[in-house]
Amino acid sequence: MQTLDPKDLPSLFRQRFGGEPLVFRAPGRVNLIGEHTDYNEGFVLPAALDLATYAAIAPRHDRVIRVHSVNLNSDFSFALDEGQSRRGDWSDYIRGVAVELGKSGYRLLGADIMVLSTLPMGSGLSASAALEVAVGYALLSIASEKVDLLELAKICQRAENDFVGMRCGIMDQFISCHGVEGSALLLDCRSLESKAAPIDPSVRIVICNTMVHHHLASSEFNQRRRDCETAVALLSQRIEGIKALRDVSVAQLERHAALLPPLIFKRAWHVVTENARTLAAVSALESRNFAELGRLMNASHESLRDDYNVSCTELDLMVELARGAPGVYGARLTGGGFGGCVVTLVDAEEAAHFAEIVGPAYTNATGLSPVIFTCFPGPGVGPALF
Ligand code: GLA
Repeated sequence: MQTLDPKDLPSLFRQRFGGEPLVFRAPGRVNLIGEHTDYNEGFVLPAALDLATYAAIAPRHDRVIRVHSVNLNSDFSFALDEGQSRRGDWSDYIRGVAVELGKSGYRLLGADIMVLSTLPMGSGLSASAALEVAVGYALLSIASEKVDLLELAKICQRAENDFVGMRCGIMDQFISCHGVEGSALLLDCRSLESKAAPIDPSVRIVICNTMVHHHLASSEFNQRRRDCETAVALLSQRIEGIKALRDVSVAQLERHAALLPPLIFKRAWHVVTENARTLAAVSALESRNFAELGRLMNASHESLRDDYNVSCTELDLMVELARGAPGVYGARLTGGGFGGCVVTLVDAEEAAHFAEIVGPAYTNATGLSPVIFTCFPGPGVGPALF
């Protein structure tokens, strides 16, 4: 595999476009728990990764945006004042961000942009949100616009919802903007208030990339979101004032189960119990009760697999292998599902041997070579510091 070093970006930029760029960095994320809760106005517990997407940028004298991706060795360009429509490729994330920034009243400048990412694409670590946030931040910076990070996160989410057509929640863009070094963030996706939950040095967050990605992921994702909306519409016949599944307690859902078709009930059950698990997980993390945190992560995976139906054979296998390794407190799929990564909470002293045990066992069973690495939570978007 080609290794890309972000430090090479300025010289690659000079070779292709000429001129001296500014370079910005926006991280991907891993979610410890709170999956498929963000678009239900619930709770999530992500951490920004030390892997990121970098955008090198320099203004142009016309109103054209030219973009080159180092990872994909691919280019495109567009004029800022022309209407844009979806192409169904990676350029949509960037054109979508430019369109949404324009709609929000920002006067952008034409620019040459070169992007490079150390994040694996399509692996559930939010490479797309990192691309949106890095480019959005870069475009605002050269236009001398003040960057409000919460507004940038919302603009990037709109780019994905309205332009790309993926009805994601706010988690990925929020954490890419607001990541805190050494910590996960408990985010209330309704109020958008967050608080840092430091990761204790006695544990490690280990990420296992299954190296599979299922193509139905985004249509299935949108279907799950519709299922949740159906649940809210049916439950609101009996429970007054509910706006989202966030407003429904486990007891209320049990009481009104008969209102929902079985499949819709399962979807709602996952979301309602996952919100409760996420709040319990933050308390467990804060009180250093890692056995309890691991138990909650395991329960989250079971719920995603059996009730939300977003797991797959490879994710289930990786979770099982991870749980069998020494020093593991818990393991679950992270991100939207249908492939991608597993997040594991491992005792710091055992973490060094984890990959040696789990990697070969996964390869034996699947023929695939997983990528397994420890994540040290990093900061949110900003100038790249090389
Ligand atoms: C994807 C979406 C997020 C969130 C997760 C599932 O990563 O982009 O908004 O819904 O799936 O928790």
